[in-house]
Amino acid sequence: MIPHYPAFMGALSSLPLPATADLTDLRRQVRDWRQAGETIGCVPTMGALHEGHLSLVKTAKENADRVIASIFVNPTQFAPGEDFDAYPRTLDTDAAKLATAGCDLLYAPVASDMYPDGFSTQLTLEGPALGLETDFRPHFFGGVAIVVAKLFNRIQPDLAVFGEKDYQQLRVIQSMVRDLDLPIEIIPGPTLRERDGLALSSRNAYLSTSERGQAAQLFLALSGFADDLAKGVDWETAQGKALAKAANTFDRVDYIEARCASTLAPLPAGPVKQPARVLAAVWLGKTRLIDNLPVG
Ligand code: PAF
Repeated sequence: MIPHYPAFMGALSSLPLPATADLTDLRRQVRDWRQAGETIGCVPTMGALHEGHLSLVKTAKENADRVIASIFVNPTQFAPGEDFDAYPRTLDTDAAKLATAGCDLLYAPVASDMYPDGFSTQLTLEGPALGLETDFRPHFFGGVAIVVAKLFNRIQPDLAVFGEKDYQQLRVIQSMVRDLDLPIEIIPGPTLRERDGLALSSRNAYLSTSERGQAAQLFLALSGFADDLAKGVDWETAQGKALAKAANTFDRVDYIEARCASTLAPLPAGPVKQPARVLAAVWLGKTRLIDNLPVG
């Protein structure tokens, strides 16, 4: 059993697994594991953990000797007016779930440590960051990239696991790691779904009972879109059909698009002749849902 370091903060010391908010403690633990010849996997999260997150922890555990999960509701990826304040913060239950999933250490830094006064660095992203989420949340990937880069520098893992549920985020992080020569393997984790197809997401907790009933229509719209493309229907026609279906159910459709699966570049006109992905973001009341599926 790994000891709880004395410097762990009060609230964290009572959790059912070793946990720290302190960078020195984190680095000491990572150094000890490395000196023992152990490899380290990490799973960055914002908490409000569900089975999807836990499957990422299990994947990390299958591929590394030790797993560090981080919980940090990252302010730089939320714009003013978005749900930063409302985002569920459930540290105790998250810690219990992480302990059960085999996580070795919870790292839960505070915002003033991650972004001290005078913090002035930003990352500019292109390639897979262009379009889709960026058209509606232009601040988002800059915030994600900076926090993930900081977490990678702090933890220095051998590998990190990110969910395919946030497919554009996954591709942005894979590109960042490649472009910046970070020696970290990025492992994708499959999306976990409810029985009716709704992708597991921390934000599903915002849905009312009737919205929850409608939410699975997103999976159905994307499945129909992906099936049409796999059958050779040109993407413009298939997208029009999927948009009409989504517009009937959802209060707003931010996008429903097909893109190249690896670069996320727009597809050439007509039937799809390369590995592709369909991606969507829609609103039910105050809840924004995103999802995606492979074509074929
Ligand atoms: O996917 C998330 O939960 C967040 O965007 C991440 C990767 C933890 C960065 O804050």
